[in-house]
Amino acid sequence: VAPNPSLASYTARPSRRNQDLERHSRRPFRGYPAGVIRLDSGDSDLESPQPIRDAMTEALDQGLTHYGPPMGDPDLREMIASTLSAGTARSVGAEQVLITHGACAALAAGLLATLDPGDRVLILDPCYPIFPDLVRLAGAEPVLVPHRPDLHIDVDAVTAAAVSARALIVCNPCSPTGIVYAREELEALALVVESADLLVFGDEVYDRIVFDNAGFTSLLELPQLEGRLLLAQSFSKTYAMAGWRIGYLVAPRSLFRACAGVHRTLNGPINTAVQRAAMAALSLPPHLLQDMLHEYQARRDLVLDALAGVPGTSCVKPEATFFAWVRHPAARSDAIVGEAIQHGVSVRSGSEFGLLGEGHLAISFSIDRHRLAIGLDRLVQVLSAANQVSAEALG
Ligand SMILES: Cc1ncc(COP(=O)(O)O)c(C=O)c1O
Repeated sequence: VAPNPSLASYTARPSRRNQDLERHSRRPFRGYPAGVIRLDSGDSDLESPQPIRDAMTEALDQGLTHYGPPMGDPDLREMIASTLSAGTARSVGAEQVLITHGACAALAAGLLATLDPGDRVLILDPCYPIFPDLVRLAGAEPVLVPHRPDLHIDVDAVTAAAVSARALIVCNPCSPTGIVYAREELEALALVVESADLLVFGDEVYDRIVFDNAGFTSLLELPQLEGRLLLAQSFSKTYAMAGWRIGYLVAPRSLFRACAGVHRTLNGPINTAVQRAAMAALSLPPHLLQDMLHEYQARRDLVLDALAGVPGTSCVKPEATFFAWVRHPAARSDAIVGEAIQHGVSVRSGSEFGLLGEGHLAISFSIDRHRLAIGLDRLVQVLSAANQVSAEALG
């Protein structure tokens, strides 16, 4: 029987919500020719420290290969709660901690559990592009609120936009800009949030990759956010565990069951043995994390040195994360990204990261210094040529 073409076109199509996501998403599906040096990745090339890998092997040898409790291993939830309580001087209970497949799944659980279609969600621009995508997937509307020119929070702009909003997403340290928000600006933001009665989604996955002792303040420390903060965390960055897929959500008690319900429906319990590895991560001797931080800082300095003399290019010194946010001289960011790939190096186009991203590149320093230096050499050639072209165009 010949297929009914009109039926096929009606049934074999992505959902309308997915079409909406596809239309608006700024995240490209990427593929690279062989030999390209990747300065675009959020995955560190450092090995997950040995005690973490040992804990995993041991867990498998002990037969931890079965479904675990749906909200996570109780010992891990307890450990996270007491670590957060000690670090923030606030009381976080294990019953508020939901173990998820990384921070992305934590954000998905929180956003899908709380947003209604049509809700407006404020996102500070430039932003990590999964935020607007997840908001759309929840049927809500992302509203990009520009950062100030110095890439800190424009509290007045948030105040103005908050009038018609339901929620706000805050990523601190900020990816892709590498800025760490000051305690005072977060306190001012918290007052706005309280008076506009907003829900807040926090992403603090880079809270331990902070350089030069730039002071980091967790959103958990702000009393105005009590009862309205859903905080996503990850083992991916701090412990170089991106491939293990583990993170967590801290939710207010009143919303926890809703978030756990979404997580259970979408994902089910997460890998049992990996949760043992995560406990080993939380118990690592501090010097191992210090060593990793020093390595990232050396890589950051390599990026700053390489770009320092390039005409038409400027870079805000990253205070955190392993991304540098770089202003470039080309007319379009995606054009320079294409040019860079032709020269054997890939970077991220600023336009992926929001309305204010055009004119910028995000350069990852998550790879070893040797390859980083080669990639930067290639990129500097591309940036210098782009500057030449733009200077000639200006006459
Ligand atoms: C700001 C930010 N949040 C979340 C994530 C994703 O974290 P996870 O691997 O835990 O899903 C990333 C990864 O690049 C990130 O940069």
